[in-house]
Amino acid sequence: MDEYATLTYNGKEILLPVITGSEGEKAIDISSLRAETGFITLDPGYANTGSCLSAITFMDGEKGILRYRGIPVEQLAEHSSFKETVYLLINGRLPNRNELTRFSVMLNDNSLVHTDLKTFFQNYPRGAHPMGILSSMVNALRSFYPALDSHEEEINITMTRLLSKVRTMAAMSYKISRGHEIVFPRPDLTYCENFLNMMFDSPVKPYEIKRETVNALRGFWILHADHEQNCSTSAVRMVGSARVNLYAAISSGIAALWGPLHGGANQAVIEMLTAIQKDGGNCQKTVQRAKDRNDPFRLMGFGHRVYKTYDPRAKIMKKMCDNLLESMQIDDPLLNIARELEEIALRDQYFIDHNLYPNVDFYSGIVLRAIGIPTNMFTVMFALGRLPGWIAQWKESIDDPHWKIARPRQIYTGNLCYDYIPIHAR
Ligand code: CMC
Repeated sequence: MDEYATLTYNGKEILLPVITGSEGEKAIDISSLRAETGFITLDPGYANTGSCLSAITFMDGEKGILRYRGIPVEQLAEHSSFKETVYLLINGRLPNRNELTRFSVMLNDNSLVHTDLKTFFQNYPRGAHPMGILSSMVNALRSFYPALDSHEEEINITMTRLLSKVRTMAAMSYKISRGHEIVFPRPDLTYCENFLNMMFDSPVKPYEIKRETVNALRGFWILHADHEQNCSTSAVRMVGSARVNLYAAISSGIAALWGPLHGGANQAVIEMLTAIQKDGGNCQKTVQRAKDRNDPFRLMGFGHRVYKTYDPRAKIMKKMCDNLLESMQIDDPLLNIARELEEIALRDQYFIDHNLYPNVDFYSGIVLRAIGIPTNMFTVMFALGRLPGWIAQWKESIDDPHWKIARPRQIYTGNLCYDYIPIHAR
């Protein structure tokens, strides 16, 4: 039975359809509101606004649930490969053996990048942040790989190129930043092994691919693979809605992810933990600062717009972190600081009242440090993991027959109309 919500204003009633999602979540469809009443809705930060219907990812922020295409993220993190999860997100179902092999071959065939891109990298100023470099380099890919004639082929090849080449480019940027020779991708390695090998192999010290490191990277990327309509994904959908090419849309997602309130938090957490360590390990002081309304400082890696309980990704990440450090026999002092900080914050009334729990970024930096990833590359690692989610969301948006260019409205609060005053009279 169709459901409606009634809006009453100035004695006039209008009926607004209620939309119900497959998990029972509800929305009031206000798409006819302006036409019927002249009003728009106002929702800063879009906290109550659904921007689309989507069949990709389900989250329940109250219960701490996250599923990709219906499969709990816990199961994927335990059993799936990153490549398989990528396929699942983009195609809507798990691949069979043949499909997975074909996908692997396509990723391998597209894994090299144009050698001219190397010149690009080399001309960035020293000290440039890798996220800024990555965002502009991904945008530049369109110039190196112009659109193909067939729409279908253009989409499939572009998606594959991005998934494969961005990984190569990320490792390449690290090698160039160190002044070392680039390591090429190898067809005999898995997606995760290949990345680690391109990052760390050297002619003087061959990289030993360790099972626990590969497994940690696999888990890290799976946990970051999609998170429905977050800031960067909304950027990808919004920019994509103008029908720009996929490279440009993804480039905007990378730029959004760079922010410290979003993906940049993983770097900010390690910087915060390091600052605590340098300051003698006083976690209590840091928690006090985070509570101080006159101080803009926030406890990085804590809080989430949607999760009002423990972020399910953070739970898995914490376990992964403990296992990895134990199996590699690493004693990272930042882990002890993180544990203490978490304990103090979770007992604190301010954090309890505000429903603030660790999010995915709280322990992920310690995992990345153990793998050997430098701190300024942390958000790039998040971007590589989120790439399939951005691609899946973009594809869903362009395949939607009802999709329109994204164009929010506003309530104007500026000057009323007045006449131009010539400069001599001002
Ligand atoms: N430390 C201290 N106070 C906090 C924090 C925090 N980390 N997060 C939120 N609050 C307080 C905030 O001050 C506000 O208090 P009050 O209502 O008393 O003024 C209240 O909680 C609500 O905060 P908000 O900014 O309105 O919440 P939001 O939903 O807009 O922000 C957030 C979500 C993630 C941006 C925020 O929690 C935050 O800044 N966290 C730290 C940065 C971080 O870890 N980001 C990674 C997010 S997860 C990875 C990803 O997917 O991007």
